[in-house]
Amino acid sequence: MTTPAFRDAALIEQSLELFAERCEDPTPLVYERLFAANPAMATLFWRDTNGAIKGEMLSRVFSAILDFVGERRYADLMIGTEMITHEGYDVPREVFATFFATVADTARDTLGPDWTPAIDAAWRSMLSEIDAFARKVPVVAA
Ligand code: HEM
Repeated sequence: MTTPAFRDAALIEQSLELFAERCEDPTPLVYERLFAANPAMATLFWRDTNGAIKGEMLSRVFSAILDFVGERRYADLMIGTEMITHEGYDVPREVFATFFATVADTARDTLGPDWTPAIDAAWRSMLSEIDAFARKVPVVAA
């Protein structure tokens, strides 16, 4: 077995497993939270008449988190390329990276007391690592 890219990978995996067990469809919860903090982002999903795009994006974000903490075969590159792609959707870079924290906050609310201090610390540390990656993504001229 390969060493995970992130020291506390097991805690992140465990929290996401619990989140999936406790919440059959996290999509509405995550996006309600995102749109409450950033109302302008809601209109960008104008093509998403049945929620499929939001669901697909969230599932890709879950997979990216698991890859980022585990084998890290693609997640670091994906975060960079999607950040640039999303500028084309009018998602500012600062907002793009907050999506991971929105997922964390939603999982924390769903898990209640099972969101332990160790899980919380693992997420904080992973989010700051993702932020560091995001800050290094070069600016691409339009
Ligand atoms: C607040 C932050 C974000 C907003 C507002 C946002 C918004 C959007 C929107 C509006 C679409 C649909 C575009 C369309 O009409 O087809 C989309 C698609 C997508 N998003 Fe996000 N996004 C955010 C963060 C992220 C993050 C962090 C990731 C993963 C690293 C991600 C991955 C994707 C993927 C994979 C798609 C499918 C199409 C594509 O490859 O661009 N998004 N996003």
